[in-house]
Amino acid sequence: MRRILITGVGGFIGSNLAENLVTDNNLVIGVDNFSNYPKTIHSLYLSPLLKLNNFIFKNINILDSNKLLRISKKYQPDWLIHCAAKTGVRQSMVNINAYYRTNVIGSLSVLEIVRLINKKTKVILFSSSSVYGFQKSRILNEKLKPNPLNHYGYSKLLSEQIAQYYAKTFNIPLIILRPFSVYGPRPRLDMAPFLAIKAAEQSKPFYKYGSNTNNFRDWTYIDDLIKVVNILLNKPLKSYQIFNVSSASPLGIDDFLTILKNELHSKLNLKLCIKKKKSLTYEMKIAISDNSKLRNYIGVYPTTTFQIGVINLLKYYQQHRKIYRSLR
Ligand SMILES: NC(=O)c1ccc[n+]([C@@H]2O[C@H](COP(=O)([O-])OP(=O)(O)OC[C@H]3O[C@@H](n4cnc5c(N)ncnc54)[C@H](O)[C@@H]3O)[C@@H](O)[C@H]2O)c1
Repeated sequence: MRRILITGVGGFIGSNLAENLVTDNNLVIGVDNFSNYPKTIHSLYLSPLLKLNNFIFKNINILDSNKLLRISKKYQPDWLIHCAAKTGVRQSMVNINAYYRTNVIGSLSVLEIVRLINKKTKVILFSSSSVYGFQKSRILNEKLKPNPLNHYGYSKLLSEQIAQYYAKTFNIPLIILRPFSVYGPRPRLDMAPFLAIKAAEQSKPFYKYGSNTNNFRDWTYIDDLIKVVNILLNKPLKSYQIFNVSSASPLGIDDFLTILKNELHSKLNLKLCIKKKKSLTYEMKIAISDNSKLRNYIGVYPTTTFQIGVINLLKYYQQHRKIYRSLR
């Protein structure tokens, strides 16, 4: 049985990933300090996991390196999947210190334990497509020089650079993933799919920044990302690798909203009212992933369409509507 330590297990990606890995007969040790959402949401995302055998949860702040080291020494993980982060571009322009503290110093603290337990623990570090920032090319591949536009992107880029240093200097097998706009059940509360549902639910407008020509995103359905991680965990890994991840489902904002609007209406009987706003200077305008490097490495590529992904998200929302409605 593999032992996998996941940081940020109380969040969107961490909780979905942990559930999948536990049911796949791994021992998962999950760490979180419940700092990104109201308690009700963290407990909604984590509570199904707490009932499972092979899952151990520790309420630890990743900045607390002593506690992290203690549990790492105790469980000697084969893999460490680092998801914990301050997330969301817009908040990063307001709450700047917290982003650098968690995403840079926090990542350093996580990488230090890998060095200190000295066990050749392999690492998957979640970075972000935000590291690309402004580029001349519409299609983003791993060879481009990162050029972030916001503090979130900068903090993720710094975490990548520290990780790269650790991988090379201490010979730590390490994969960096740059996911493009991940969505699905147990949603992030700050991202467009959930913000649109919330706006429709509260009969408030959803603010659309830009249009199809200057707001284009490559969406990644959570199950596709999990499949990719599973394949990576089963492949031998010797050195440092960096990969884009998306479901190859790029959409302009208007097409994105048309799909959401139709599904909100047919599945939840909700109307979405849209108001236009000018694009934000610090947000990436076009974020389309070139997936060829990952496709060549893993041999297959999971590609859930945005429409199917949204239907699954709305199903999950409906099951927990009372909890989401209680949020202001
Ligand atoms: N969701 C996306 O679209 C997306 C895209 C690209 C990259 N990512 C990256 O994937 C990772 C997971 O993102 P997510 O969408 O699940 O975000 P999330 O906000 O849902 O989860 C992050 C978790 O980290 C925890 N956390 C924050 N600070 C912590 C600390 N100091 N100690 C311990 N735990 C802490 C939070 O409580 C939260 O549960 C992040 O690194 C994020 O940057 C996400």
